[in-house]
Amino acid sequence: MYKINENYLKLPGSYLFSMIGKKVNEYSKAHPEQEIIRLGIGDVTQPLAPAVIEALHKAVDEMGKAETFHGYAPELGYEFLRQAIVENDYKKRGVDIKVDEIFVSDGAKSDSGNIGDIFDIDNKIAVCDPVYPVYVDSNAMSGRTGNYDSKTEKWSEVIYMPCTEETGFAPELPKEEPDIIYLCFPNNPTGSTINKTELQKWVDYALKVGAVIIYDAAYEAYISEEDIPHTIFECEGAKACAIELRSFSKNAGFTGTRLGFTVIPKELKCNGVSLHSLWARRHGTKFNGAPYIVQRAGEAVYSEEGKRQTKEQIAYYMNNAKVIREGLKKAGYSASGGINAPYIWLKTPNNMTSWQFFDYLLENANVVGTPGSGFGPSGEGYFRLTSFGSYENTVKAMERIQKL
Ligand code: MLT
Repeated sequence: MYKINENYLKLPGSYLFSMIGKKVNEYSKAHPEQEIIRLGIGDVTQPLAPAVIEALHKAVDEMGKAETFHGYAPELGYEFLRQAIVENDYKKRGVDIKVDEIFVSDGAKSDSGNIGDIFDIDNKIAVCDPVYPVYVDSNAMSGRTGNYDSKTEKWSEVIYMPCTEETGFAPELPKEEPDIIYLCFPNNPTGSTINKTELQKWVDYALKVGAVIIYDAAYEAYISEEDIPHTIFECEGAKACAIELRSFSKNAGFTGTRLGFTVIPKELKCNGVSLHSLWARRHGTKFNGAPYIVQRAGEAVYSEEGKRQTKEQIAYYMNNAKVIREGLKKAGYSASGGINAPYIWLKTPNNMTSWQFFDYLLENANVVGTPGSGFGPSGEGYFRLTSFGSYENTVKAMERIQKL
């Protein structure tokens, strides 16, 4: 008789954004006349940049002719894309990352969920609290997180690093030594960031205790202030202790197109074993490459036109972030984020729980956000709004909130 992976049975509820989707669909079915504004999941709304569309069309045409047709992509990604990544995301920032240290994938969500494959089950993970749920859930699925306590909403074998108002929504170095540290800056969900000196402290700490940092930089394109690192490899020594995850979803609107990459420097070694070679082995075995067409679209993001057009999209979303921040302030809410990130993190009014506020907002303003407690226990009493909606809907959502 076969057995299932019982770790799945320990998972509480369903994936956060599936749960929200279900609730909203139910509400919408019951109230078909109401116009719902979705500022919950961080999904983009602006169309792909013209330069990207042009590259897609061209690549599609190539696929239609025998002489330019492409079959399986190279396991680690096409050289043209990896070269563009190295030049634009690293070399221009004075960071020396080699083309063969880039692993192209179908997005940062897959990579952040899969990266645990190359680590022993006995490693202890440390996560920010609140945190993007994929890091914890994927470790729970592989049995690395112990048992879930529904009272505390914590896993027994996870080190939680509270990111609260008192800490400026940034984590402090943990008291208990972790093996794997997940960091995401600019942060999802709080929209907070840390400067280079602070990030250097994490790198120094990881090197000291022999931990590896999984650094999710999916939102780096939203950084507007000086001295905020765009990549962890700006820090000294990071190549010996960090893996970086990057995405095309938020900087170029590829949420439905799917493209990302992971950087594993060759000098990152655990007892002499290269993590790069383990991930290459995993990638080669379980992944057949992002589509040629999509990798050409990714390359176009780095063209002069592509850079200009995607910059405009980011400015559009960041203008929405401003509308939300100012709108909430006018309505008397306390909110942060939205300066270097597309997320605004607000305190729920009148001591409402995060889910109470979710229902309240859905029912009274027909606006959808994400309950902070869905990201971890320290998110209780908070709520996340995204700036990825259209400008018109964002303005309308703020008007509705102000009328409550
Ligand atoms: C979010 O809303 O947190 C993100 O869109 C989720 C993701 O990128 O997978």
